[in-house]
Amino acid sequence: MKFYHRLKKGLFSKMVFTYTIIIALSFIIIAAFLSVWFQNYYFNQRRHQLEKESLFIKPYVFDFFKNREDDREYSAAQRDEALKFFSAYSSADIWLEDKSGYVYAVSDEKYQSLIARQIFTKGLEEMRFNKIYEMTGTYGDIIKNQSHIYGIPVIDSDSTFYGAIIMSTPLDEIRSPLKNVYRIIWITAIFAIIISCFIIYYFSERILIKQLAAINAVAKKISKGDVRKRVEINSNDEIGELAESFNYMADSLEKVEKARREFISNVSHEIRSPITSIKGFIGGILDGVIPRDKENYYLSITYEEIQRLTRLVNDLLDLSAIEAGQFKLRIDEFDINEIIRLTVIKFETKIKEKKLDVDVCFNLEHQYVAGDRDRLIQVMTNLIDNAIKYVNEGGKIYICTKVKGEKVLVSVFNSGPLIAKEDLPHIWDRFYKSDKSRTQKISTGLGLPIVRNILTQHGEDIWVENKEGEGVTFIFTLKRIK
Ligand SMILES: Nc1ncnc2c1ncn2[C@@H]1O[C@H](COP(=O)(O)OP(=O)(O)OP(=O)(O)O)[C@@H](O)[C@H]1O
Ligand SMILES: [Mg+2]
Repeated sequence: MKFYHRLKKGLFSKMVFTYTIIIALSFIIIAAFLSVWFQNYYFNQRRHQLEKESLFIKPYVFDFFKNREDDREYSAAQRDEALKFFSAYSSADIWLEDKSGYVYAVSDEKYQSLIARQIFTKGLEEMRFNKIYEMTGTYGDIIKNQSHIYGIPVIDSDSTFYGAIIMSTPLDEIRSPLKNVYRIIWITAIFAIIISCFIIYYFSERILIKQLAAINAVAKKISKGDVRKRVEINSNDEIGELAESFNYMADSLEKVEKARREFISNVSHEIRSPITSIKGFIGGILDGVIPRDKENYYLSITYEEIQRLTRLVNDLLDLSAIEAGQFKLRIDEFDINEIIRLTVIKFETKIKEKKLDVDVCFNLEHQYVAGDRDRLIQVMTNLIDNAIKYVNEGGKIYICTKVKGEKVLVSVFNSGPLIAKEDLPHIWDRFYKSDKSRTQKISTGLGLPIVRNILTQHGEDIWVENKEGEGVTFIFTLKRIK
């Protein structure tokens, strides 16, 4: 649960952080583009408006200059009215100046002091040639706030220059609608961020966080030894894949765990029975329960048990050393036929006891191979030991070598019962004994795993063939030396 919260906080806050940055960046870019575009658009609109207004104002100018001296007063009053009206309409201050730049009319009384002052003479030079004059900024003590100034020349149809209409609007005035637009953009952005947080929360919770927490919970249970736990996620995405791989891993863990438990119980079982009998016999001798003249007999049984134990422990050590890869092979070249002969001789007593017919069949007198001599003696010993153990009374054993390409095939055949189909895949497992009751006393089921491990380490192969109605053949390969 604690982890769940940490994961939630961690992943969730990271996702929200990323998305917020993405959304904020997109809005900043949109706002920047919009505001540039909007400002241009707005200024254009403004120019159009001012130009239109100037069309209405121009007739008053012409009237004023063209009228006779005594009519001027009347037309001036009319003109000032019009200026006042248009100034209020477009929230711009409007001043009229004559062809030399002297102001002779203003839209607002507060600019009365401007009358008869010469202003915007520089602009006048441009306007004289029927060009519109435009600037933004301040102008001496007349325009103190940043303003947009638009000068429109007044030129008659016969190209007489009568001066100019100057219109000035404080930039703040123009920008206030823009500010509104910015505000709307930012409020939308904040709303978008909040809404996306909710959406991210909902989806990340459903798609990611819950699932990861489920996998994690199972991982924890497994690490505590509960290897049967599995994740139940059936989504068709990467999380589903992760869950699948996770379960796959849990499967193999369970198998390993099962093998380990079996191994330990097998080892303990194998060790317990000889120890119990040794304890019983020695106890009997010490207590005097076993009569003195039988002591030697029981001691020899005890001795056999101890030998069995020694063999078992040695086999186990060998196996674990080979499996851990600590076993360095000492590769030599030697005659495998000679090793087969020597090994058979070692089993002479047992062969005679069982009245077996043992024969070798070699392609060549000497068959040289590469390998670790001692290890291969162990392989031959185990295979021949099995053959003698599982052959029928008075049966046959054939041990052959023959060349096949780069390899030498060594086969050990014994007549007798076949290995059952269901046992075939398992005979290479540690402690596997197909006929438990019959072989319990004399075998542990470590022979074949050792054989196979040694050969695998050599890079060689071993397999078993049942010969219907005849017997069993174990065959392995070795590297041939010519
Ligand atoms: N030649 C064979 N004929 C029939 N069955 C065999 C033969 N060799 C092995 N098996 C079967 O394979 C099983 C495993 O053999 P493996 O050599 O590993 O163990 P084991 O001979 O029972 O014990 P150990 O070799 O440790 O004394 C045997 O228990 C036996 O059932
Ligand atoms: Mg064996």
